[in-house]
Amino acid sequence: MPVHPIVLDVDTGTDDALAILYAVQHPDVDVRGISCVAGNASLEQVVANTHKVLDAASAPEIPVAAGAVKPLIERTRQEEAFHGEDGLGGIVLPGTERTPSRLTAVELLRQQIVDADTTVTLVGLAPQTNIAMLLTLHPEVADHLERILFMGGSAGTGNITAVAEFNVWQDPEAATCVIESGVPVTMYGLDVFTRLTVPQKHAERFAASDHPAQRLAGELLLRRGSRADGSQQEYVGQIGDAGALVYLTHPELFTTASHPTRVNLSGIGRGQTIVDRRTVAQDAAELGRDPWRTIEVVLDLDVTKAAQAFIDVMNAYAA
Ligand code: RIB
Ligand code: CA
Repeated sequence: MPVHPIVLDVDTGTDDALAILYAVQHPDVDVRGISCVAGNASLEQVVANTHKVLDAASAPEIPVAAGAVKPLIERTRQEEAFHGEDGLGGIVLPGTERTPSRLTAVELLRQQIVDADTTVTLVGLAPQTNIAMLLTLHPEVADHLERILFMGGSAGTGNITAVAEFNVWQDPEAATCVIESGVPVTMYGLDVFTRLTVPQKHAERFAASDHPAQRLAGELLLRRGSRADGSQQEYVGQIGDAGALVYLTHPELFTTASHPTRVNLSGIGRGQTIVDRRTVAQDAAELGRDPWRTIEVVLDLDVTKAAQAFIDVMNAYAA
């Protein structure tokens, strides 16, 4: 099986936590560093959450660095309604001995990408401010990147507005930098994100486990359907950001297509990823318009097999 050297950019977050648990346990994924950005919680909280999730996973020393406290232009707007004030839906984890890197997120990403012995995949699970700053300050990273795989945007509806998904809505200019960067880009959008769910019986089994990583995965999954404001909602069990990692390790379970894509930066559609899925694309150059960047967009998946891939990795914690 191929090994995937990756760097992760996160705003941990209930589902970033599931993604970290999956990435550090999967035998074919090599996590070289984790950069943090404010998003689902404050930057300080995101760093602490990330360290505590690594503890639960008994992960080796993986450098974790703090990055942007706010988007490139706008003020930050945290997603507390879903993830709670602490980002982890109120789950209390033990204190951590891990300390953040002395490097900034951008410096850590540059170091881990440029100094790597091979090309690296940058997996973004958060507003893309750190990644945009990396590409702007250190354009040389492009030659060392296999791909940027980001959870964000949607080829369908949004979650924050009718058309905008949280990560892109939080920093649409940063998402534009990423899509326009020239680095091969894959978008794992909200339309597939919301479909990848784990049955409740597995969430309950994990939550009852003696193993800290399995127990955390179960508790997180049980919160992935109920809202932190206490309002009732049926169990859903979305693995969320972790789905992007399942795509990385099991691309055969997903359907992708190349589509011209652009971020809407203005008006009521601000933050929308416009995916041009027309089969007969118009020739933008002929029409005198800027050509849109073509990116790979994940459009469909085998839900049962992808969920099983996630369950298998969680099972392995106590195997
Ligand atoms: O919109 C989905 C994204 O925002 C994910 O990255 C998740 O963490 C959420 O809050
Ligand atoms: Ca996230």
